Amino acid sequence: MTEWQKSGWRAKPRVQMPEYTDQAKLEAVEAQLSKYPPLVFAGEARKLKKALGAASRGEAFLLQGGDCAEAFDQFSANSIRDTFKVMLQMAMVLTFGAKVPVVKVGRMAGQFAKPRSAPTEVVDGVELPSYRGDIINELAFTPEARIPDPAKMLQAYTQAAATLNLLRAFSTGGYADVHQVHQWTLGFTDREESEKYRDMANRISDTLDFMKAAGLDSDREPSLQTVDFYTSHESLLLEYEEALTRQDSTSGKWLAGSGHMIWIGDRTRQPDGAHVEFARGVLNPVGLKCGPTTTAEDLKVLMAKLNPENEAGKLTLIARFGAGKVAEHLPRLIKTVAEEGANVTWVCDPMHGNTIKSSTGYKTRPFDAVLREVKEFFAVHNAEGTVPGGVHFEMTGQDVTECTGGVRAVSEEDLSDRYHTACDPRLNASQSLELAFLVAEELTSRREAQSAAKAG
Ligand code: PEP
Ligand code: CO
Repeated sequence: MTEWQKSGWRAKPRVQMPEYTDQAKLEAVEAQLSKYPPLVFAGEARKLKKALGAASRGEAFLLQGGDCAEAFDQFSANSIRDTFKVMLQMAMVLTFGAKVPVVKVGRMAGQFAKPRSAPTEVVDGVELPSYRGDIINELAFTPEARIPDPAKMLQAYTQAAATLNLLRAFSTGGYADVHQVHQWTLGFTDREESEKYRDMANRISDTLDFMKAAGLDSDREPSLQTVDFYTSHESLLLEYEEALTRQDSTSGKWLAGSGHMIWIGDRTRQPDGAHVEFARGVLNPVGLKCGPTTTAEDLKVLMAKLNPENEAGKLTLIARFGAGKVAEHLPRLIKTVAEEGANVTWVCDPMHGNTIKSSTGYKTRPFDAVLREVKEFFAVHNAEGTVPGGVHFEMTGQDVTECTGGVRAVSEEDLSDRYHTACDPRLNASQSLELAFLVAEELTSRREAQSAAKAG
């Protein structure tokens, strides 16, 4: 393989990327971004890689979640805090089930560019280029709004930097202290899952009280006062990614400075394409979406390219087949991984294979289908003797009505009430927490079956 360069993707076929009309403006933006500080540091990406390696062996569990698409007009401290808070709650629930550390990775601080199933969109007989995320063009259905504007990369960078700044403050400034476990529950009163959450929070408080009585002062234990919270996004807009790529001074390797983890989407994983070419050279952990059309041949090439040294935690395979299709596709890909002796972390994205159009015209996802896909993912891993390493959700801390179902059932008629996503439908806070409890049950039964097998 030829030596990697951060601009090497430019010589490869590209899909799902905008055709900028103003080249001079594009180059000026790229030059400016190249001078800005990276958003993350190489040591952090390495630490995440190590944590994902632990997840690949069942010694940790990944919780990856956040918006389908971050939007400029929905940017606020409250929405960042609420998503962070729900992820902390979910992580607590999962830690209880899995009895291993939960690795927390947001689809945040860079998740702006979107692949689309069609290049154009038709509304009332008018055809316009598709919306591709706020970093590229605008959602408004006018010809001007849909023109890709390179300057949007600068606004995305600014929003990502401010988001990451607040996430870092929440992670280490006291908000994420486990002693606050009851505080995070506020805002979820009188619901079934908040009852369950409170029970669990009480047990955690009791444990902390016990530790204190026994002379272990948990108030001073840094690992209980702070969390590691990482960021991730789809590495789609390669001009932006390249401009933020930096050489790590300690190792001489290249870091995608736009976020801790990047992933390659289901539509841009051509083994000889631009997106794979970019991702193969960075030291960050890389995710690869695997769908029903992922072939064994492609997966072999992709694993070799994206994890050339076969490091644990380097490559996460994010399975997104759709409920009812996991048993058909996951075993064949697990077999390919085994044949290659490849190190991968298996993660379940139960969102992207379960998108439907509701009778009321909204793009939605039934909670039942999401849950079914998670269960199928666990069932296949349990049968194959492989490790379910984590989950990947589109979710928000806001009380939206975008996915149907859940204990506080959202109906198809309810979708219009608070449908705010700029792209795909997200689980709301209540649905996210409910799902975390159900995943925790899967992890608990898996753990119990394993200890029974060991004892027997
Ligand atoms: C996404 O994660 O938002 C996405 C577009 O996923 P996929 O590439 O799996 O369809
Ligand atoms: Co999406």
